[in-house]
Amino acid sequence: MVDRKAFHTLSYGVYIVAAQTDELRAGCVVNTFQQVTSSPAQVSVAVNKDNATADVIKKAGRFTAAVLDETATMELIGRFGFKTSTEIDKFADTAFATDAAGQPYVTEHACAWASVRVDHTIDMGTHWVFLGEAEEAGVLSKEPPMTYAFYRQVKGGKTPPKASSYDATEAQAAPAPAPAAPAAGTSKWECQICGYVVEVEGDELPADFTCPVCGAGPDQFTRIA
Ligand SMILES: Cc1cc2nc3c(=O)[nH]c(=O)nc-3n(C[C@H](O)[C@H](O)[C@H](O)COP(=O)(O)O)c2cc1C
Repeated sequence: MVDRKAFHTLSYGVYIVAAQTDELRAGCVVNTFQQVTSSPAQVSVAVNKDNATADVIKKAGRFTAAVLDETATMELIGRFGFKTSTEIDKFADTAFATDAAGQPYVTEHACAWASVRVDHTIDMGTHWVFLGEAEEAGVLSKEPPMTYAFYRQVKGGKTPPKASSYDATEAQAAPAPAPAAPAAGTSKWECQICGYVVEVEGDELPADFTCPVCGAGPDQFTRIA
């Protein structure tokens, strides 16, 4: 028997991996970036095949990783962790720099970064695991790195289905289908972070409402009907 709660005890950080080709600039939040060996400095990351970033990393043969710090906002995590690079240019409203190979890496709310040459790509079913050597790396600030536990417990963040650590047995981030039109006496609101739509009685979202997908509060919702 596999008690999936055992995996809830694992510790991770929260990162944004990114890559660029002539066709697309892509990036997504991951918790699966990690160092594999010290000398040379080899690292790995598991990226869901359905994430746009996976294809771009495969084509570019490289990726960058930014280590998010505890100041990272839900807007930033929502943009890179709940939306797709084929629909929005996630870097348009994000501070970033480019490495020596011309690949973008996020610099806002990031305390460190690395630029990686992919040497091995392993097919793990739902995910590709990219393994390679860090050719550049640097420290960006002294802010403490955000842990996955901090993201979940302090920021109230959720885990979307494409994350490696998603647990389908927990009602985490599977959006409920939105009702077509609001019933009389109700209003309809859209989360600006992850796009979740909710219909509530009356004209206001309750002050203690939190988005069941990404954990955003009422101030992140816009009334749409
Ligand atoms: C906290 C958190 C951790 C995540 N971890 C991973 C991960 O390790 N691997 C992965 O493929 N996706 C992970 N995701 C999901 C992707 O960030 C998400 O599917 C994103 O929208 C993909 O964007 P893209 O289509 O532009 O690549 C995570 C998301 C969050 C919020």
